[in-house]
Amino acid sequence: MDRDEAIAFVREKAEKETTVRHLLSVEGVMRRLARHFGEDEETWALTGLFHDLDQDQTHEDADRHAFLAAEWLREAGVAEPIVNGVLAHAHERYRSDRMSRAVVHADAVAGLLVAAALVRPEKSNGMKVSSVKKKLKDKAFAPGVNRDEVTGVDEGIGISLDEFLALGIEGLQSVAPEIGLAG
Ligand SMILES: [Fe+2]
Repeated sequence: MDRDEAIAFVREKAEKETTVRHLLSVEGVMRRLARHFGEDEETWALTGLFHDLDQDQTHEDADRHAFLAAEWLREAGVAEPIVNGVLAHAHERYRSDRMSRAVVHADAVAGLLVAAALVRPEKSNGMKVSSVKKKLKDKAFAPGVNRDEVTGVDEGIGISLDEFLALGIEGLQSVAPEIGLAG
């Protein structure tokens, strides 16, 4: 599945535009992380893009969340490492490799970065690690973002928080024109 097909698939399954935008933001972060680690960018990007594919159908049912998406993805012939990564973002037992752990951190940081971009007139343009760190410490800001999943990145995938935030900002900027955050 190429990127255009993948985005069409996302638009077919997601019912809310906010879900599509969230998926694209995590895609951008995952692609940037893959490049940093010298991993397969398409595989990581698709994992990010699909991770919450069934969000609008399963948000009230944590036991079904990601399993419905996995079913759709397998039917569509999507590769198993990507399906595993999608399952991993919501269910710990699938976090078996670097990519399946990275998606947890990417999901959380994308939430923080999008919220931070939305309150800036320049949106994601010129966003700095230092200002994102302040938002991270301010628990009243974007309270839905799991702080531990952001700060646990060193233990999870072996990069420092500062480096992770810098890569996350670049990843968000790479998809910013598609999600209205290019300033
Ligand atoms: Fe997510």
